[in-house]
Order: sequence, then C-alpha cells, then structure tokens
Amino acid sequence: MNTNAIGIFDSGVGGTSIWKEINALLPNENTIYLADSKNAPYGPKGKDAIINLSIKNTEYLLKQNCKLIIVACNTATTNAIDYLRANYSIPFIGIEPAIKPAALQTKTNTIGILATRGTLSSTLFSKTSTLFASNIKVIEQHGDGIVELIEGGKLFSDEMKTLLNQYLQPMIDANIDYLVLGCTHYPYLTPLLINILPNNVKIIDSGEAVARQTKTVLEKLNLINNSFKTIEHSFYINGNTEVLKSLVGTEFKVDYLDF
Ligand code: SIN
Repeated sequence: MNTNAIGIFDSGVGGTSIWKEINALLPNENTIYLADSKNAPYGPKGKDAIINLSIKNTEYLLKQNCKLIIVACNTATTNAIDYLRANYSIPFIGIEPAIKPAALQTKTNTIGILATRGTLSSTLFSKTSTLFASNIKVIEQHGDGIVELIEGGKLFSDEMKTLLNQYLQPMIDANIDYLVLGCTHYPYLTPLLINILPNNVKIIDSGEAVARQTKTVLEKLNLINNSFKTIEHSFYINGNTEVLKSLVGTEFKVDYLDF
C-alpha cells in the first residue's frame, strides 16, 4: 500500500479527461495534475522537444513523490514514453489511440482517427496501426488548431465548429463507422462531434482503458492507497487557471505555477 499521489501530466488541460476516468475508478487515490499549457500544443513540436518537456514535467512530479505517472497526452506518449521508462524507475502509463477496438468492431471496414501531427507521424502510432488495422481502411486526420482553441477557452466556438466540419467531412464521405479520438483534449469535443457525425458513427477514446490499466499496475506493484485518510487533488497550470477550472469543476483548487 502507498498513499503517495498519482502524477498526471499533459501539454495542457486535455488530460483532465483522463483524470476524470482515474478519479471515477480509483476514488481513493490522491492525484497531482500538471498542465503545461505554456508549451501547448506539443503536436507540432519535434521529438526531442517533446522528450525535453516530458522530462521537465516528470521531474516536477517526482519532486512531489508521485508513485506512478500518467502521461495523459497522446503526443508525449508516442514520442517520449520509451525514454521516460528507460530513464526513471517509477511506472509510467501512456495513452495510445483506441485503434484496436475500433478496428475489431467496424462494420464498414473504415475507421477515422483524429489526432495531432506529432501522434500521427510517430513510430508507435504506425506500429499500432499496422498491427491492428492493416486489413481495414484508416482515414487519418490531424487536428491542427483544436488544442489551441480548447486551451484558449474556445471549446464551443464557431471557429471550432468550422474546423471540425472541415476535418470530419472526408471521413463521413469515406463511410467511417468509428471515430477514434487520438488526443486527450478531444473527448471534450464529443457534444460537437455528435452533431456533425451521422448517427451510426461511434466515438471512442482511451480514457476508461487507461484508468483500468492504471488500476492493474497499482495492484500488481502493491501501490494501491488503502488508507482512510482524506484524499487530495492538486491541479497546477502554467497558463490560464480559469480554463482548467471550467473543465475540472469549481470544487477543486487550481493553482498557477510557473514551471
Ligand atoms: C498537443 O499538445 O498537441 C495535444 C496533446 C495530445 O496529443 O494528447
């Protein structure tokens, strides 16, 4: 048993979609969430830059004695998790796009994937795609501009609707029946996506699977928090605290931190 916090970092506020799944499945765990919004988006950055930012986030969470770190960012996972695992001794959980379940369940043999350029061009993504989706058609679409709008508090803006219509139309034309959300910011788009996509298209992300994987690893390593002490959730952001508050809820304290 270990009462130390689970550390979670993302290029910004999107990883809170993962934090919500973690908190729902593991309500007895303390958490520390780090939103590196100052450096968002990671998607267009090169691999070395993404690794350096991931090191900086990891070092901060290690100083807070986190027992496990969730890299709640697809771009950081696909580019940096191998480095982190090779260089730090604590367990890391990463986020990979849910290509496998979509590829197994598609009836039209065509799925769409919306992700950042950094994720779509990564070796890990192409390996996963080859492994699970080589027999079906995968329509890849980069989500340029989406993360910036969410970080800027413009989630439900007209600009966002225009971008999404533009990005989804080729997928609709190709008759996808699954849309894989390959960025932890994107689950917040779900109400908009539902309005644009035909009714038969199912939207999937990796949030629940990541929470289950985190639980499995904590149990296996005997790191589950079984104490009856009050739980604490800390949120730190080096950008706009209001945007983070609007996503996690006003009951949680969000602090600005220049990291
Ligand atoms: C980004 O920072 O570009 C998006 C984060 C992600 O890939 O989940």
